Amino acid sequence: MDKKWSILQQKRIEAQLGGGQKRIDAQHKKGKLTARERVHFLLDPDSFEEIGQLVTHRSTDFGLENEIYYGDGVITGYGTVNGRLIYVFAQDFTVFGGSLSETHAEKICKIMDLAMKNGAPCVGLNDSGGARIQEGVNSLGGYADIFYRNVLSSGVIPQISAIMGPCAGGAVYSPAITDFILMVEHTSYMFVTGPNVVKTVTNEEVTSEQLGGAQTHASKSGVTHLTAINDIDCIEKVKQLLSYIPQNCEDTTPRVPYTMQDEYRPDLSKVIPDNANQPYDMREVIAGIVDNESFMEIHEQYAENIVVGFARLAGRSIGIVANQPISLAGVLDVESSKKGARFVRFCDCFNIPLLVLVDVPGFLPGTDQEWHGIITNGAKLLYAFSEATVPRVTLITRKAYGGAYDVMNSKHIGADMNFAWPTAEIAVMGAKGASEIIFKQEISKSAHPAAKLAEKEAEYAEKFANPYRAASRGFIDEVIHPSESRRKLIKTYAMLENKVVKLPKKKHGNIPL
Ligand code: HXC
Repeated sequence: MDKKWSILQQKRIEAQLGGGQKRIDAQHKKGKLTARERVHFLLDPDSFEEIGQLVTHRSTDFGLENEIYYGDGVITGYGTVNGRLIYVFAQDFTVFGGSLSETHAEKICKIMDLAMKNGAPCVGLNDSGGARIQEGVNSLGGYADIFYRNVLSSGVIPQISAIMGPCAGGAVYSPAITDFILMVEHTSYMFVTGPNVVKTVTNEEVTSEQLGGAQTHASKSGVTHLTAINDIDCIEKVKQLLSYIPQNCEDTTPRVPYTMQDEYRPDLSKVIPDNANQPYDMREVIAGIVDNESFMEIHEQYAENIVVGFARLAGRSIGIVANQPISLAGVLDVESSKKGARFVRFCDCFNIPLLVLVDVPGFLPGTDQEWHGIITNGAKLLYAFSEATVPRVTLITRKAYGGAYDVMNSKHIGADMNFAWPTAEIAVMGAKGASEIIFKQEISKSAHPAAKLAEKEAEYAEKFANPYRAASRGFIDEVIHPSESRRKLIKTYAMLENKVVKLPKKKHGNIPL
């Protein structure tokens, strides 16, 4: 027994070392943690239980039979984050560059299956050169096995991908199917093909950072939802994200203890400028409504004209979708529609109530938008809101014009409660544009066209640039003073807590992808 035990101990020590101390040192030199260190920092102390530590690859081509590493380049298992169960895999770059062999894939699939059966999030710490080149189709098959599970798990358990090193080829498609991607600045890259292939095929000269670094994917492509300054920051953000999200689609929304206090926020009445054309930062409205410092913005640098993120209201998680007047006047365009729609769908999958803050002048006109499919993409947001069955509350702070009024969680597409501040303007378009069209004849015939336009504009604004028409029809449930917004919303979500809506029976809808 003693001999057998010592053999096991020896194998465990080897497994801990991955590809060896030299490669571990190289990883540290790049400013990266090792896979084991990452798991250690992610999970609660002593909570990690490893599965498959002694797995080795089966390949005998290209001399691989002489290169055996226990664990085969990925650490898999389960543990807790703030006391809540999660499943985790961490790719070990010190073993064949974290590349994915058949057995490496099997290990990941095993914990994905466990996560599904037991209804807990699956977190992937990715650091991989893609398919293990020596294994050919076995490795490709392994990827497809993971992709398939990613899809089956989608909407059942939360899936989070932290990109903590180069991720090339197949290594990017599994993260792409998961709910959230985080990238570490300067040490992580995501691309389908790297700079060398790009150069060969398109003759473009591009660095890894430009092609697929964290900044690129945070601001240009929108592939990543969050960026981090280093591995520890990334892991902290994964933990923070998990704190807002239920364990699975049948779990209730996470809640931290909260005792009601004075919930009036007088500062909220100072946010909207006197001049209706002057921008303001919608984040000030968010900060005034949600629990102190609880807002976690997602996709912060992408499509900045819409703000999305998680927060807590009286201790309970909510998802926020808000037009952002300081960026493009908060207009809806292709990218903001896609960003908003994806976030709404995530919240709806996982029972996270939605709060929608509206100040939108409409959809962005122009050939660029039309040719990039603003019709199909704007429809995504409309579809996502219409389909969502979680509690849905809207607060119109200022403009709600045209089709964007309908799209931004209006009563007509199933919102539960719709509020407006007295500064709200709910109309087909702004007073000036509307007057120029409907009073065109009158203005052109007038001896003083400019004065006539101003008069008509004022007349139109008086009639429509307010929330009272909509309130008189019941499209707005109540016009509220900004200072009472937080208190009103807390009570509203408590009232909607047991909301149940059943959609018509169908296989699945056909969102305009
Ligand atoms: C086997 C690999 C590997 C791979 C890296 N290594 N990628 N081994 N299969 N895919 C090995 C290297 O040989 C090296 O081994 C060690 O990992 C570290 O790699 P380096 O190149 O020294 O590291 P670095 O300079 O940091 O570059 C990292 C890298 C680069 C950017 C990931 O290695 C690279 O470009 N790898 C290939 C990426 C790729 O094209 N993958 C296949 C994609 S096709 P030694 O022994 O020297 O330390 C694909 C298809 C799936 O994934 C499609 C599904 C849809």
